[in-house]
Parts: sequence; structure tokens; C-alpha cells
Amino acid sequence: MATIEELRIRRPDDWHLHVRDGDVLGDAVPHSARQFARAVIMPNLKPPVVSVEQALQYRERILDALPQGSNFNPLMTIYLTDSTSPKEIRKAVDSGLIVGVKLYPAGATTHSDAGVTDIRNTYPTLQAMQDLGLPLLVHGEATAPSVDIFDREQVFIDNTLIPLVEQFPGLKIVLEHITTAQAVEFVREAPERVGATVTPQHILMNRNALFQGGMRPHHFCLPVLKRETHRVAIMEALAEGHPRFFLGTDSAPHPQGAKESACGCAGIFSAPAAIEFYAEAFEQAGALDKLEAFASLNGPAFYGLPVNEDFITLRREPLSLPEAYPFGKERVVPLRAGGQLSWRLVD
Ligand code: NCD
Ligand code: ZN
Repeated sequence: MATIEELRIRRPDDWHLHVRDGDVLGDAVPHSARQFARAVIMPNLKPPVVSVEQALQYRERILDALPQGSNFNPLMTIYLTDSTSPKEIRKAVDSGLIVGVKLYPAGATTHSDAGVTDIRNTYPTLQAMQDLGLPLLVHGEATAPSVDIFDREQVFIDNTLIPLVEQFPGLKIVLEHITTAQAVEFVREAPERVGATVTPQHILMNRNALFQGGMRPHHFCLPVLKRETHRVAIMEALAEGHPRFFLGTDSAPHPQGAKESACGCAGIFSAPAAIEFYAEAFEQAGALDKLEAFASLNGPAFYGLPVNEDFITLRREPLSLPEAYPFGKERVVPLRAGGQLSWRLVD
């Protein structure tokens, strides 16, 4: 079979992205705006984006940080807390600019201290989301210190998510950045209103990458990389073209010094070559023909949004990544810094 040299697909969207704020915003957003038409912007700023007003102001700052002429459309989210009100949900829907509410179990990840301590505290709010059709975006990890870090996703699915899906029979739910065979199984068996995003790192690497010749802080993210069997299970679902899995990079830049530290932050910065990373993973799985649906069709279908009108071209050409990119007064190290990819976005 002749190898494919060029791939033209509808312009993709990123359904899970961190662009931060302040003096680094202008260094973060352009990487994504170059490739994606839209991105779901995570609200875990410090302090978190808990109100519609804050989300709309944050949206303006993102638009201001865009390169001239960019049409990139940030799809905003608010951060669910124990005290988010049903009234705020109504406001979010009325704004027309907020596509979801993010659930971080308190303490699960970067800037999640304000997260939900007990899901039952949020039931009236979840009820409003169900009634108004606003999706719940979930960081699916159990946070009890007794739970092994590699089991956190599975325990969360069993103890929190499966009951939640039953409790709210009309609520749209996205299990974000899935990492396990159990998460794949959960989505496969769940009703159609349940979907999942998949990051590039969780289909390109397994947990060995954390200790490749030494500790690799730039491969550390949450949920943490899992064993190879889990990577394979996720990639299988994508390779068969399952419609409820879609692209969400979880690109999460941190300054170099905060990653290369005695207590390094969780988060992998994949935005500079996001679509190229996915192309590599899909090619490895012999599933390049499924990339477009995953990257450009399944997400809009789930969120009930139109697909993008324009197309992008990926060419089989070496793409070299620098050791770091500017990031405010510091630098940020991308996934595969100083390395190469085999696909390149050409226009
Ligand atoms: C994210 C971050 O740095 O904001 N980190 C990560 O490892 N994924 C937070 C998150 O999405 O969990
Ligand atoms: Zn994230």
C-alpha cells in the first residue's frame, strides 16, 4: 500500500485546553489558534473562573491575545464549586458563550483547591445544567489519599461517575483526558450523552515515559500516564472510529522552572504541535483515515455545534521542535522538546 504523503481534513477543534492568563497568555494562545478553529478553555486560573462575568472577561483577554486576523473562537467554561448556583447556570446558557461547567474534585490537580468537596452539594446546579442542556466536563480522579494514583480514574468512575450518570438521566457529561481501559469501557457502555476527550500524550506514551533513563518531569500530567495496556485500549477505540471520543489536548503549559523542580507541576505542553502529535499516533495505529472524525467532527456533534467550514493540510515532512518557547518572563518546554515529528501542518 502506498504511504499517504498528504492529508487534508476539516479544521479541527481542541475540546480541552489551558491557556493561562496574564503575561503568558499571548505566548500560549497563538500555538492553538494556528491549528484549531475553537477550543474549550479550562477555568482553573488562580483564582478560578467561577462566574459567568469572570468567564466573559477572560474570553476578552484571550481575544486580545490573538494574532492579528485570527478567527480563533474560545469556548468558555466555568469552574464548579460547592456554591455554584442554578441561577449562574441560567446566566451561562443565556450568554451563548459558555459551553460547559468543569468539575474538579477538590485537590485533584493543578489549581483545584476550590473544587467540589462532595458532589451531592452540587445536585441543584447539576439539575439546572441537565434542564438547560449545559454539559458537565469532568476531571475524573478520586482524590482520597488512600487511593493509589494509578487507580484514581477507575475509582472515580465506579464510585462517582456511574452513579452520577444514573442520577441525572439527561445530563451531558464529558469525561476529560481519559487514561484507562476502564474509562474506554465506561464510555462505550454509557448512553449517547456521555463522551470523552483524549490527549496526545495518553495515546503516544505509557508510564515508562515518566522514567526513561531518569525522571522526566515534562511527561508528568494528571491523570498520570498509565501502563501500555491502557494506552492500547484507548487507541483501539479511536482506531475503530468510535464517535464519542474526541480531541482534547489538555495542553497545560507551566514555566520550565515549575516543571523542573523538587515538586514539579502536572501538565504537558503539547499545543505547538498538537495536530501533528495526533497524526503520528493515528498513523502508528494504522488509522489515519479516522483522524478527521476524531479531531473535527465528533466534538461538534457532541456539543451540538456546526463543524468548521475550512480545511487544513498535513504533510509528511519532518517537523523539529525547539528546546523551549517564550513564556512571559520565562520559558516553557513542549512535549518532545528538541525532537522531531513526521507530520507537519502546512497551511
Ligand atoms: C492541568 C493544568 O496544569 O492546569 N494539568 C494537567 O496535568 N493536566 C490541570 C488538569 O487538567 O488536570
Ligand atoms: Zn486539563
